[in-house]
Parts: sequence; C-alpha cells; structure tokens
Amino acid sequence: MARITSIRGRLLYNSRGNKTIEIDVISDHKCLGRVCAPSGASVGKHEATSFPENKPEKSLEILRQNEKKFVGLDPSNLKLIHENLRTIDSTTNYSKIGGSVAFALTIASIDSASKSLEVPIFKLLSTDSNLRFPFPLGNILGGGAHAGPGTPDIQEILVCAIGSKTIRDSIEVNFAVHKELGKILAKRDPGFTNGRGDEGGWAPKLKNDEALEVCARACEQLGFTLGKEVSLGVDFASSTQWNEKKNKYVYERAGFENSLEEQIEFVSSIIKEYKLAYAEDAVHEEAFDEMSILTKKFPNVLITGDDLLVTNKEILKRAEKIKACNATILKVNQAGSLYDALEFAKEATKNNIKIITSHRSGESVDSHISHIGIATKSKMLKVGIVGGERIAKLNELLRISEYDLIRGMVEI
Ligand code: PGA
Ligand code: ZN
Repeated sequence: MARITSIRGRLLYNSRGNKTIEIDVISDHKCLGRVCAPSGASVGKHEATSFPENKPEKSLEILRQNEKKFVGLDPSNLKLIHENLRTIDSTTNYSKIGGSVAFALTIASIDSASKSLEVPIFKLLSTDSNLRFPFPLGNILGGGAHAGPGTPDIQEILVCAIGSKTIRDSIEVNFAVHKELGKILAKRDPGFTNGRGDEGGWAPKLKNDEALEVCARACEQLGFTLGKEVSLGVDFASSTQWNEKKNKYVYERAGFENSLEEQIEFVSSIIKEYKLAYAEDAVHEEAFDEMSILTKKFPNVLITGDDLLVTNKEILKRAEKIKACNATILKVNQAGSLYDALEFAKEATKNNIKIITSHRSGESVDSHISHIGIATKSKMLKVGIVGGERIAKLNELLRISEYDLIRGMVEI
C-alpha cells in the first residue's frame, strides 16, 4: 500500500488567466499526483465556495498549516482523506478552507495512488468490469456568461455524436461539426472574427434562434440527421436570465421576457424543433416544479440539472422526490471533494438519474475528469471541443482506449 509522504500547494492561473491553486500529493517520496482547480462563471448559489474570502492564498496558508494531517495516509483511501479534511473544515460548503482545496487534494491523492500502484485512475475509482466510454458533449457555440455582448442569451449550444460506435469517431464528429459551423458563420457574416467563448465554442453576433439554426445546418451540411448520427443539446443556464424581482426570465440580448409558463413553452419548442437530446438548466436553479414538468413532458431527452443540483446529494434527494430531472451534471468542485462527488454519483445511479460529468468554463490542462466520467458510468462527458484545456480531456480518453479495458460506448 502506498503512503502519502508530502503535500505542496502553489498559486497558478486557470484558462481565463484568473488565480487558482494547484496541489501536489507525493506518495512513497516519488509518486507525484498533481491537480489544478478549475472554476465556473455561471456558478450555482449552493455550490462549494472556491476560496475563503475569494483568496486562493488563504486556502494555501490553511493547507500548509495542516499538511501533516495527510502524511502517512493511503492516497487511494478517499474516504479517509475526506474525513481528515473535514476535521479542518466542517462547513457544508467548504467556506473555511475552500472547495478548491477539497477538489485538488482528493484528486491529486488518487492520481498519486494511480502512479504508485500502476493502475489507471478510472480502475481505482470503480470495480465495475463493464465500463464504457461516455459520449463527449462539446460546446460549439457560446453566449450568456461565457461570451460578450451581441452573442445569444443562451449560454451553450452543444453537439454530441450519439450514433458513433467508437470514442475516436465521436470526438472527430464533434470536431467536424465545430469546423463546419465556423465556415457557415464566416460566410454568413464577413465581419465574423472567429471569436470564441470561454469554452472554445464560436461566439458570433446572433440571436438565440439564429444560433440554433446555424448549428443544425452545420450538422445537416455534413450529411448528419439530427437525432440519428448527432444530436444538439443546450445549456440554457437559466439562472443567468432569471430576474427574481420581475419574476421573469429576461432575455436582454434578444429583447424579450418569459414568465415561468412562457419559459416552459420556449424551452419545449426548442427541444422539439431541434430534436435536442440534452437540455440543461432549462429553468432557474430554484424552479424544481417547472423542471419536473419538463421531465415528464420529455422522457427521452436528458433533462439535466446543473445549477439546480450543484452536485449536492441532499439537493438531489429533494429533486428525486418530485422527479425534477432525469439527468444531472457532476462537477467535482461544486461538491468539494472527490469523495463527496462519488457519493453524489452513487445516489444518482441508485435512482436512475443519468450522470454527465463536466468541466468548468475556467479550466486547467488536467484530464482527471475523463477517468471520473468513465468510473461514474456517465452517459456524456461535457468537456468542450477546442482549446488546449478542452482537448486535454478528449486526448486522455484516447489514451485510455489503449488499455483495451473499456468496451465501446455507453448506451444513452
Ligand atoms: P461554468 O459553466 O463552469 O461557467 O459554471 C458551465 C456550465 O454552466 O455548465
Ligand atoms: Zn450549466
């Protein structure tokens, strides 16, 4: 069994150039696990706090004071590492030490264990002998909190190659759609600058419906039929539009407002018209009842909670009671530790809620979530398409395919 021999934290920067932390966990004096914490732009109200008082330096200071608590532990024992972390910070949202420490420390531990035991991370996280690849879900067009004025209010239009039989083909189809869309946008607007949003999706000056239209056209021009070889998905990130005072969704860029009922109609018509396979945060983060209306209405679409559930097991239990969704985003840093996130995944699986493991808009080049997506039997892996920090996750899936331990793609 491996033993943690030292821990070190440092201040680094994420893909947006914002400060973040990286943690090294070294086992047996030589096996280095290293993880850099990501961060979101459309952050759910009940997510773990990234850093105390928004100061990564403070997280590092507390980690330094408590390093010894982890030395000597088995780096593959996530429960024990989690419990030791909880002796330092017992707040529900990691407000004392920062969720980023919980994230980086636990994943770096499993990374270190993986090197020491020479077993890939996904195998350490799951004893299941029938693991498969999740379908990559990639952001092809960005708006909302991920792109500037003039772009759609809707945060993300995504593509997923649901008809692909291999992980390589599913990745290549996503690339092809992204490229084709780029050509369409350049032709349509000679002033298009090839600008991209935070996750690499194109960021054109288009209204919501125009954006959906061009994405559908990109798929069709490549000879794909929506709902067959490929499907589109949308992350509405509706809390961004929700105006509590007005009790309405305000689509500022497009210039209209939706009541609660109108929002359900708006979302439903998009799901039908573009044959979406995936609809995330179609209503705001407290609108559990409205989510359950959509879940009932569209049993074959992944009606997915992100800000709604924030990878929180207790909130998920609340959602299960009223069948508020049939799918959930899993973002480890929303929960805090990898142990928290795996407990959340167990609860979801037990209740037949499908899992979509996801990156954040502010990322690092780490690729551990590719392993986490496989081990949690995620249906999709939402990691973007282009940009070094997005490609890193896709490339890791291809490396994993060399182990010959995974039998093709999951069934959606
Ligand atoms: P975030 O957004 O990482 O900026 O919070 C991604 C998402 O909403 O899925
Ligand atoms: Zn989201």
